[in-house]
Amino acid sequence: MTLDLIIRDAILPDGRTGQDIGVAGGRIVAVEPKLAAEAREELAAGGHLLSPPFVDPHFHMDATLSLGIPRVNRSGTLLEGIALWGELKPMLTHEAVVERALRYCDLAVSHGLLAIRSHVDISDPRLVTVDALLDVRERVKSYIDLQLVAFPQDGYYRSPGAVDLLERALDKGIEIVGGIPHFERTMEAGRQSVEALFRIAADRGLRIDIHCDETDDPLSRHVETMASEALRFGLADRATASHTTSMHSMDNYYAAKLIALIAESGMNIIANPLINITLQGRMETYPKRRGLTRVPELLAAGVNVAFGQDCTMDPWYSLGSGDMLEVAHMGLHVAQMTSQEAQRTCFEAVTTHGAQVMGLEGYGIAPGCRADFVLLQAKSPSEAIRLRATRLVVVRSGRVIARTPAREASLFLDGRPPMVDAAAYAPKLG
Ligand code: FE2
Repeated sequence: MTLDLIIRDAILPDGRTGQDIGVAGGRIVAVEPKLAAEAREELAAGGHLLSPPFVDPHFHMDATLSLGIPRVNRSGTLLEGIALWGELKPMLTHEAVVERALRYCDLAVSHGLLAIRSHVDISDPRLVTVDALLDVRERVKSYIDLQLVAFPQDGYYRSPGAVDLLERALDKGIEIVGGIPHFERTMEAGRQSVEALFRIAADRGLRIDIHCDETDDPLSRHVETMASEALRFGLADRATASHTTSMHSMDNYYAAKLIALIAESGMNIIANPLINITLQGRMETYPKRRGLTRVPELLAAGVNVAFGQDCTMDPWYSLGSGDMLEVAHMGLHVAQMTSQEAQRTCFEAVTTHGAQVMGLEGYGIAPGCRADFVLLQAKSPSEAIRLRATRLVVVRSGRVIARTPAREASLFLDGRPPMVDAAAYAPKLG
């Protein structure tokens, strides 16, 4: 039998070396050394790392690449970001949102990022962003798995009309229920919003992903309500709490009880290291909190923790590039996940863990999985993070959809002579 594609001599994220991957009909049919088969196309991995594609389980594609429209965020704070988004919203057009989102999707593909969950603000009665992102989801579906969350940015109860608008967005085809309990007027309103949103998700058979406790207030405990509602409705890993930065500031005794409850519920947690390190801890002098949720402790308890990009060049964050290795790099540093095992886990936080959050079918490198890959100019997940490694080849359904030229070898410390002539810079003695 002639296969469609064979990738020869790859290292896999689990450390296996010299692996050949055979592809037919858009699926992996074999993973083994020296695969005895022929294919219409062969790719030499050259002993580089072949990973399933990067996954971003938390993003805002309706706002991306809008930096400077109508102005930049002067303070760089979360609240000015929300206010600025409020200024921009009435100016949004279907065409402009689609155009920016498609540009971002091109950027994502070039970085091997082929699955994205985007929150979509439903607070604007025109639902411009909802229609635009539904359009984008359809237009990119052959190369990006795009999931959309109905997100009441200005509050489910606090924003006039949001209760109806969220239902209308779901009726239009948005597939996940969102929320923002810490932004409601009171803790009690926040708790009620979580209960109402879980009821909607359960009744409609949908997943739920809530912006939860994105604050430094240790008494913001909506994640506790989320875990208990996930248990009540049996949603388990179909429920996700995004951010949960208040956990950073909680009393250790309460946090230990809470982490056990989250683990029992089976709910996912998403940390957004680039954003949480810049937006949290903004109201204090020194020492300053990091404001990232308790990633190592949650992982140790068996909770699935993924990392998200959250923002790229928008009202909240003027930086970002759609590169999930940049996200993993920041997460690794902020959470002090520097052991060899923890570094591998950071790579999983932007690949397999995000795939679990999104419930992606056929994700991975094994027979039967979808033939989606990214070939990295690195020998290991740790080196990929260290170098934000070049995406040499990106493959979707067995077809190459992006290539990037390899970088100079001197970065790789692999025994080749350095590019700089050290002797020329040595101090002259005598
Ligand atoms: Fe977000």
